[in-house]
Amino acid sequence: MSTSVLTTVILAAGQGTRMTSDRHKVLHPVGGKPMLCHVLDVAERSSNRPPLVVVGALADQVRGVVKDRAHYVVQDKQLGTGHAVACCRDALAGYTGDVLVLYGDVPLITEDTLKTMRAARAGGAGLVVLGFETSEPRGYGRLITAPDGTLDRIVEDKDATDTERAVTLCNSGVMLMDWRWAQAALPRLEASNAAGEYYLTDLVALARADGLQVHSVSTTANEVAGVNSRADLAAVEALFQARERSRHMAAGVTMVAPDTVFLSTDTVIGRDVTLEPHVVIGPGVTIEGGATIKAFSHLEGCSVRSGASVGPYARLRPGADIGAGAKIGNFVEVKQATLAEGVKVSHLSYIGDATIGKDANIGAGTITCNYDGFNKYTTTIGAGAFIGSNTALVAPVSVGDGAIVGAGSVLTKDAPADGLSLTRAPQREIKGYAAKFRAKHNKDKS
Ligand code: UD1
Ligand code: CA
Repeated sequence: MSTSVLTTVILAAGQGTRMTSDRHKVLHPVGGKPMLCHVLDVAERSSNRPPLVVVGALADQVRGVVKDRAHYVVQDKQLGTGHAVACCRDALAGYTGDVLVLYGDVPLITEDTLKTMRAARAGGAGLVVLGFETSEPRGYGRLITAPDGTLDRIVEDKDATDTERAVTLCNSGVMLMDWRWAQAALPRLEASNAAGEYYLTDLVALARADGLQVHSVSTTANEVAGVNSRADLAAVEALFQARERSRHMAAGVTMVAPDTVFLSTDTVIGRDVTLEPHVVIGPGVTIEGGATIKAFSHLEGCSVRSGASVGPYARLRPGADIGAGAKIGNFVEVKQATLAEGVKVSHLSYIGDATIGKDANIGAGTITCNYDGFNKYTTTIGAGAFIGSNTALVAPVSVGDGAIVGAGSVLTKDAPADGLSLTRAPQREIKGYAAKFRAKHNKDKS
């Protein structure tokens, strides 16, 4: 493996007109995270030098998201990929390491592939290009190999002859170069082509003319799939989801219908977790070993501890922490609440801004009234407490350990430990009333 110094340059000057969006293309999310941040993650794992991000249109949006994770190079006019990289020459003045060119709209690139490219560079190549095979090469630059297997040149689709167009090995755009050579070669690029742009791809021919070895490394079309439109975004999201589902299944997660489960980039799932069909997992979720997430549940920003059961049709919102072996049943919403081991909230409840002790049982339809229209307040329920069905807990309020709250109560005061608290009106009986009522109305009707 190469240990040479590396700086990544991430091209993101094009706003992406075909997205038809007010948001910069590279800030659209894949797996819940902006595409550009996927690329930054890989860049940071590959090098400890800060990446350079080439920005143009909507640069402030990019800065707002990336902040100080990168240095910025402004490309005012988009004169081509070669021009974009040449714009980094001032920022890299005196730098003698390698430069790796990545793209803000090609988010699925992996560290392993970059390592393969670096190995080719360490093997003596001055320039390494990442290619891919596809049965639909239209629109891509074609990699034309020399008889000795090295790369001879890259021909853009617009400039290719029919024979060159028949080549199915295409340019991903990702390129690794010896910057000492490249910084001097970039100003020699010419815009004398069909698009009138400075092509980064023309570096290949220049490198060969200068006697450098040029190699190509190949990967799958899926890994280097780029996004130009909303349809591409959906296709890349699908590839990301497929990759993550496989990764989690290989690590011991059961998915009954994997195609219906949606994951995020930072989803952590333990061994022997079962995800039933139609589960959506947003950012910031950890599910510990042996837990089950039943069908049609939606989770974000929450933890589900070992052996817990969630759903079907449950919603866990940010700050929900579901204890080991706890049970969250159908149509239950939990937000900013810590539920200890063994807690049961089995049906139709809202639990927000609450702490619930071990083995407490929360009856059907229980609501924590945590909001008065201005502020949020906390509900505390002790270990082993039993909250009767259809209870409203008007926060701030607490229920002591082992307390029982009668069904239908509206609790506005604390309920003492081991006591019975009831707030409902006593039941009254009026003997024979119903029969008399019906008799009167039937007589009126006839
Ligand atoms: C480029 C490659 C082509 C490759 C294809 C893969 C060149 C000349 N061609 O073509 O061989 O098969 O990518 O998708 O490199 N950008 C800038 N500044 C510019 C121009 C582009 O930042 O001045 C950025 C764009 O925002 C975009 C990326 O570079 O993210 C690629 O540019 P684009 O014009 O789409 O290149 P392609 O024509 O697709
Ligand atoms: Ca493109």
